Amino acid sequence: MWFICWKGPSGFSASSTAQQVTHGIDGTSLTAIITGASSGLGLETTRILAFRGVHVVMAVRNVKNCIDIKESILKEIPAAKIDVFELDLSSLASVRKFAADFNSSGLPLNILINNAGLMATPFMLSQDNIELQFATNHLGHFLLTNLLLETMKKL
Ligand SMILES: NC(=O)c1ccc[n+]([C@@H]2O[C@H](COP(=O)([O-])OP(=O)(O)OC[C@H]3O[C@@H](n4cnc5c(N)ncnc54)[C@H](OP(=O)(O)O)[C@@H]3O)[C@@H](O)[C@H]2O)c1
Repeated sequence: MWFICWKGPSGFSASSTAQQVTHGIDGTSLTAIITGASSGLGLETTRILAFRGVHVVMAVRNVKNCIDIKESILKEIPAAKIDVFELDLSSLASVRKFAADFNSSGLPLNILINNAGLMATPFMLSQDNIELQFATNHLGHFLLTNLLLETMKKL
């Protein structure tokens, strides 16, 4: 178990929490998009960035479910600034719609966290007839990043 406690040059280790790593950071002037924000690493990243004052856009495929998740974060962090936008990365049309919606929202974009992903799924095709894991993890995020780059560069 030594590797969990071993601290690297940053002073953090594999057992450091997101709260510890972001201690002292003021994110109140920042906006972040997090894909796959409704569970796992994406949810914890959402929670901590919101705790640090970042305006977080949760990019998720199940908006209804995510509204409940947003409410539970707001109970813990009443000042949290969180929006929920629909995004299905396995659909290029959905990625284009998300980017158009975000780009027309007038929000700045400081941080893009391409977190969502599938792993070791059985062979399946996306709506665009592309292998599902490749479509979701790679092509969806590639297109998303490209469509948001100009907004990020405006800062
Ligand atoms: N945990 C690890 O040890 C580990 C190790 C290596 C890499 N990773 C990678 O790190 C990322 C987060 O891992 P995790 O453990 O937090 O995974 P997780 O709990 O399975 O969460 C994955 C997230 O991706 C979302 N997602 C899946 N397909 C999507 C799609 N088509 N469009 C939009 N969102 C989609 C899921 O949304 P739904 O809730 O709608 O399903 C979920 O919110 C993943 O990319 C994973 O491959 C994790």
